[in-house]
Amino acid sequence: MVNIDICKQKEISGILVRFEKRRDSLLPILIEVNRIHGFITPIAMAEIAEFLEIPVAEVHGVVSFYHFLSTKKRGKYTVRLCKTISCEMAGKEKIEKILKKELGINFGETTSDGLFTLEYTNCIGMCDKSPAMLVNDNVYFNLTPEKVIKVIDELRKRD
Ligand code: FES
Repeated sequence: MVNIDICKQKEISGILVRFEKRRDSLLPILIEVNRIHGFITPIAMAEIAEFLEIPVAEVHGVVSFYHFLSTKKRGKYTVRLCKTISCEMAGKEKIEKILKKELGINFGETTSDGLFTLEYTNCIGMCDKSPAMLVNDNVYFNLTPEKVIKVIDELRKRD
């Protein structure tokens, strides 16, 4: 039987060798681990801390500070709806409802097929075109319930 933790450790080591052993490599390393694995495990955090010769608590602190870094496995597509004031006033609530209905999950959850994770985000700089959301790195704005349904359908069809 393959030991998954050992496999993951090898993968983390493979990522670490691409970075300089400097404290300011921490965030770029975390972003890369998160990009490749979708989340950052306690084992990965320990390994990163050892590589950079910094306390694990420091690594954990950075992971918990940035909302785009995760300690839980996320879906292939992370949908982040802006919850800040302009979007709030422009009908965020309707978008929130349709996202929950279409995906069948609440915010903070991942669909059982592992395709979508639903989260909130703060302002993403599209206030003049609100409500807005991100799906991974792509921005969607001037959202309506119909537009959201179309976006979700298109993402489902890709898989
Ligand atoms: S408030 Fe939502 S994008 Fe700025």
